[in-house]
Amino acid sequence: MSNAHMRGAAPMEGRGAYNANSALQAAGGAVGVPLMEAAAASIAIDEGDRPVVCADYGSSEGRNSLVPLGAAVRVLRRRFGPERAIIVAHTDLPGNDFSTLFEVVDSSAESYARDDKNVFPSAIGRSFFLPLLPPGHVDLGWSSYAAQWLSRNPATLPGHIFARASKGEAASAFARQAKTDWETFLSLRAKELRRGGRLVVIMPAPDEAGLHPSAVLFDCAEDALQEMIAGGAITAHEREGMIILSYPRLPAELLAPFGPEGQFAGLKPNHCAHVPLGDVAWTQYEHDRDTAALAARRAAFFRATFAPSLARALDRASEERTNIAFLTRLEAGVRRRLLDRLSPTVNFVTTLLLEKT
Ligand SMILES: C[S@@+](CC[C@H](N)C(=O)[O-])C[C@H]1O[C@@H](n2cnc3c(N)ncnc32)[C@H](O)[C@@H]1O
Repeated sequence: MSNAHMRGAAPMEGRGAYNANSALQAAGGAVGVPLMEAAAASIAIDEGDRPVVCADYGSSEGRNSLVPLGAAVRVLRRRFGPERAIIVAHTDLPGNDFSTLFEVVDSSAESYARDDKNVFPSAIGRSFFLPLLPPGHVDLGWSSYAAQWLSRNPATLPGHIFARASKGEAASAFARQAKTDWETFLSLRAKELRRGGRLVVIMPAPDEAGLHPSAVLFDCAEDALQEMIAGGAITAHEREGMIILSYPRLPAELLAPFGPEGQFAGLKPNHCAHVPLGDVAWTQYEHDRDTAALAARRAAFFRATFAPSLARALDRASEERTNIAFLTRLEAGVRRRLLDRLSPTVNFVTTLLLEKT
């Protein structure tokens, strides 16, 4: 396996593509908004005028961060008045499209910063498996649909692109990696949080039977990749390195590090739930009965969220033209296959509210 094959997740597709095709993630994040409001209402903040610090871990292009952070800022304003400085630090991988994020934060009607001159948006381009902010610096953390991405690929996955669908030895290697990554993420965030601070984490989850709602998309993508090998668009070796390192988790997996004492690295879970989500794309389909449009929406979601991770295994991954040609061909292949495999999907999220004790 080459080094490229050992890399972790890739950022989402840029130039606004993720923002335009992440309605599913927006719906999942919405489930966490009341938790974020409760967290903002209960963080311990000393008197004085130091800025209140909010961190957004894995922001992508920012659109889906506006509602939860806006909700938090409103609660903080009620508690501390209009003059208190609030810093919002959006963090993501260095290759993330931060230009789009800043434009969205600056100009979106939904932005928490739009009419508030005392909110200071900023961004940090570094993996969340590394320290991102100084110890004891963060009052309130938010991370939605991000911490399920693994830091590295610990095994080859012949015949599969989705890590959680692996079997046998590979499945054990991915489970170990997921455990290590989650503990690393928690330990780092615990260090960054002030005492009395809160962190809300939203993660995609399998259903109760362990099945993955996006499995049909992955099946279609695997077929489309085979067709691309047969047509010479990619090589079998490139295909071998294509893995989606997203590892959705059930509440028991997220709570495992806390053990019977309910503590890990100074963090204590105050709430954890497994919540079903409505299928936004299907609801639209019930309205317009446009099969092609539904397949296109599902395929565009797949492209913006998962396909960039697959493109990393291309021999010429650094060439923009090669990347875009790959994403476009794969999206078309997925869309075509989806046309006769469309059905409503129940997605799930696991929600977690943690307190730094
Ligand atoms: C599906 S997007 C979620 C974006 C947004 N929070 C939302 O709810 O729509 C996942 C984000 O996690 C980021 N990500 C994945 N691994 C990461 C890592 N190790 N460090 C920082 N960000 C990471 C990706 O770059 C991507 O922007």
